[in-house]
Amino acid sequence: MKEFQTLHPHFLHGADYNPDQWISYPEILEQDPEMMAQAHCNCMSVGIFAWSTLEPNEGEYHFELLDSIIENLSAKGVKTVLATPSAARPRWMAEKYPEVCRVDKSGVREIYNTRHNHCYTSPIYREKTAAIDRLLAERYGNNPNVILWHISNELGGECHCELCQQAFRQWLRKKYDNDLDKLNHAWWSTFWSHTVTDWDQIRAPREHGEPDIIMTGLYLDWRNFVTYQTTDFMKMEIDTVKSVNPNIPVTTNLMWLPQPLDLHYLSQFLDVVSWDSYPSWHEPDQVRCAVDTAFNHDYFRSLKHKPFLLMESTPSNTNWQAISKLKRPGMHRLASLQAVAHGSDSVQYFQWRKGRGGSEKFHGAVIDHNGKASGRVFEDVKQVGIALEKLDPICGSKTEAKVAIIFDNKNSWALQNTSGFVNADKKYMKTCLAHYKSFWKRGVDVDIVNTGEDLSAYSLVVMPMLYSTSPEQIRLIEEYVAGGGTAVATYATGYVDETDLCYLGGFPGGKLKDVFGLTADEIDTLYPTDTNSVVWDGNTYPVVDYCELITPSTAQVLGTYGSDFYKGMPALLKNDYQKGTAYYIGCRDTGELSDRLYDQLLKELGITAYDLPEGVTINSREKYFFVQNFSYAPATVNLPGNYRNMETGEICNGCICIDSSNIVVLEKL
Ligand code: GAL
Repeated sequence: MKEFQTLHPHFLHGADYNPDQWISYPEILEQDPEMMAQAHCNCMSVGIFAWSTLEPNEGEYHFELLDSIIENLSAKGVKTVLATPSAARPRWMAEKYPEVCRVDKSGVREIYNTRHNHCYTSPIYREKTAAIDRLLAERYGNNPNVILWHISNELGGECHCELCQQAFRQWLRKKYDNDLDKLNHAWWSTFWSHTVTDWDQIRAPREHGEPDIIMTGLYLDWRNFVTYQTTDFMKMEIDTVKSVNPNIPVTTNLMWLPQPLDLHYLSQFLDVVSWDSYPSWHEPDQVRCAVDTAFNHDYFRSLKHKPFLLMESTPSNTNWQAISKLKRPGMHRLASLQAVAHGSDSVQYFQWRKGRGGSEKFHGAVIDHNGKASGRVFEDVKQVGIALEKLDPICGSKTEAKVAIIFDNKNSWALQNTSGFVNADKKYMKTCLAHYKSFWKRGVDVDIVNTGEDLSAYSLVVMPMLYSTSPEQIRLIEEYVAGGGTAVATYATGYVDETDLCYLGGFPGGKLKDVFGLTADEIDTLYPTDTNSVVWDGNTYPVVDYCELITPSTAQVLGTYGSDFYKGMPALLKNDYQKGTAYYIGCRDTGELSDRLYDQLLKELGITAYDLPEGVTINSREKYFFVQNFSYAPATVNLPGNYRNMETGEICNGCICIDSSNIVVLEKL
């Protein structure tokens, strides 16, 4: 099928729209489309939680509301992203078919409640979902105003019912070729006499059963199964809507990292990736927040190496974070266009209009309870809509990153549940963000890739704390460096395989020892009050948390530890391996050491980087450049060449003055 960006080559601007909550307010439903046009919105996500309106009683369907909503929106130039309603089931269904309700980790079946809580295995839930999806597809699948399917909402969670246990056992039988010896070996189950002698003995990790951190092989297989089963449910929905018209693309809205689902696996079945972004703007360390958000955007773009969609964000505040802070002037524009800078082809909000009741009535929305198409928030939204119209030529353009950071949710599960290192917090995500920040502050575009990906397109690949790697993933890293790539790894790399079995013969496992030219013999974990340092070329760089004790084979020692019983031993190493080079940072530095290393590598590899004021960054999409200022002060940056300001049309040289909380979008001439 054609790509989403080919079918709809314009930025989307809009929101989740829940007209089902407003049926008894016809005057409001009548006003909405006109107000959307005034807000320069061109797209609404409709019907996400509308099941009880669409099917108020079993088998009794009502589509009149959706018919009129889709038509009224289109009359004002607003397209529809149509949702399948499976993320919140109607009350009658849970009462009549308790099997659709999840069983929690303690073994208790839930009674009807909230949302996002159905059993993904339940044949009845699948049947009911397929039935309504099919009717929606038959009714709207050929409607030119419906441009995208929004499958369910924020898929996640897990169910521990007997049906899920059985499905888990089936999945394991397939994975381990029906061979319990293979499974027992992968789970190292003779430890504490946990040998499995019958498939029916297997249960998911549970509160009163096997805890996540004891039999980690079981835990990791359970997480992979949950991903598989969730994806299988999603595929069932995709197949249903596509069986009517295969030409409408599908997405589902994903969530903030790290995730308990393997999104890399799940997203292969989507036509376009979308996600929901809710940063805590204006926290004391605004740059931290900007970097974290940027990393997430890059991750979601890199899932398909194509533009993604920002499916939800708030126009002002959320109401579920610890503090419901309003966006300060400028932040709405900056945050929205930051997503575009990282490859989004949309800016969508939760939600269009604040509901009168329910737990989200004080969540930011485009239209407040005062019902007016005016005011600060509305004006901010409208200005973003106007900006997107001017930026329209950028829609569909790609990010061409030369640097990749490997981040893998599976590695995060393995690290988090392994007993050892700093048990309180392994800080995997924070470590990835710390390395990412070195590139962010130099305006270098970065792809965030998964462990099993082909790396050949990158000049530099950074793999922070890549503790868990399969033999196949090791082969890909080896192939990359052997072929001329530059890799940077850190402490705790290549300790275990994909079921958490330690590699034998020294860390990092298998060929990684040759690639990095060393073995990591021991890892020292520091108390929070301890420090050490690395001495490199006469300069001293602070070190916290982890110091590995390393024996080089072919690697050259660049830096050594500054203190403790391993003073003078290797801490930073470089190895020439076939056509490439591999660096190893044996300890957790506080940013200064990695900044210097990356500075040097960017220069050596000829990757464009900028000298930028604190809190300022640059992203590019082909010939378009996005200069963003997340600091609390105005800034000036100097870019080589001449540019056209995409919003004002003004031609300028690369000396750009930019206010605090602002973004300038330029086309290179
Ligand atoms: C999202 C969810 C929306 C709404 C929003 C509030 O996670 O998909 O339905 O609840 O959060 O921020």
